[in-house]
Amino acid sequence: VGDLTSADLKGKKVFVRADLNVPLNDNQEITDDTRIRAAVPTIKHLIQNGAKVLLSSHLGRPKGVTPKFSLAPLVPRLSELLGIQVVKADDCIGPEVEKLVASLPDGSVLLLENVRFYKEEEKNDPEFAKKLASLADLYVNDAFGTAHRAHASTEGVTKFLKPSVAGFLLQKELDYLVGAVSSPKRPFAAIVGGSKVSSKIGVIESLLEKVDILLLGGGMIFTFYKAQGISVGSSLVEEDKLDLATTLIEKAKAKGVSLLLPTDVVIADKFAPDANSKIVPASAIPDGWMGLDIGPDSIKTFNDALETTKTVIWNGPMGAVAKKLAELSGKGVTTIIGGGDSVAAVEKVGVASVMSHISTGGGASLELLEGKQLPGVLALDEATPVAV
Ligand code: 3PG
Repeated sequence: VGDLTSADLKGKKVFVRADLNVPLNDNQEITDDTRIRAAVPTIKHLIQNGAKVLLSSHLGRPKGVTPKFSLAPLVPRLSELLGIQVVKADDCIGPEVEKLVASLPDGSVLLLENVRFYKEEEKNDPEFAKKLASLADLYVNDAFGTAHRAHASTEGVTKFLKPSVAGFLLQKELDYLVGAVSSPKRPFAAIVGGSKVSSKIGVIESLLEKVDILLLGGGMIFTFYKAQGISVGSSLVEEDKLDLATTLIEKAKAKGVSLLLPTDVVIADKFAPDANSKIVPASAIPDGWMGLDIGPDSIKTFNDALETTKTVIWNGPMGAVAKKLAELSGKGVTTIIGGGDSVAAVEKVGVASVMSHISTGGGASLELLEGKQLPGVLALDEATPVAV
């Protein structure tokens, strides 16, 4: 078996690890089904080719068996999207599951219960991994969002179940977050936001090796300003990261990367709904005022800088440029939204569907962008980053 498309699937029991870790409200209703929808192409391909799918995922971070973390609330939406009735097991290993697997017709889906109900999952316990593996003939990892975890169902299982291949979603994530980022169409710009420099050091350092333009936004900019001797009033600053911010600015210069910080900012006299706010140049934040957001001049400067790009990657909640990215996407620019809070920002502006790729991973996409290898990917026989 080379990959999923060339595999002989008829009558095969396929263990599919997906990341169906979706948010549920207090009534156990799904509030965002993105991850379920993203898992559908692989499952559909398998059932259309006559496989018996054993679908596995975690949900939340349960400590032992916890009813509110059951995968049961996912069954109706999964069934609807797949166009078949998904059967749900009350466990993910054991005799009851084996019985259900034995009775599965070709082209059906059995949803296994939350794999994290066993502490052995996160411990990557080999005996547990072996039990999961014993259920199936083939392993497909499509859980990109969990690929940075070396757990039994993402990593350990591959030692006992061959071949182990990437699902379509995992492959697509790699194509964009590794392929398009390592051999980008240029000019290549990155937009990185976030409240803390400390959480984005790895991403910024890694992207400085690759991009032509780096736009920084979010709360972290005040640490960069202060490092340059600009007074920031009472804005949030990571005092212990000032030297690092200077190093990153120097590194950008040495690499010939055009690093842009906002030139004007929205400031407020306190952090409260009834605060007074105004827009000032970044170099003129008065004492006692704090920076909250980037200003209109900066948005224009950022948009102008993006105008000529061919690839843009965005990580961090910087909603101000979402519309520009949508426009560029329409002109054939590769636009990649790297997981977590950036996704919410794109969705808020209503432009998610036009982007080239929106990652389903938070931690996983961050680690990939930092240049790290993901254990869930390394363990596979086939998962090749291909430039798009
Ligand atoms: C996520 O939501 O980022 C993934 O599902 C991984 O979940 P975890 O951080 O609990 O391992």
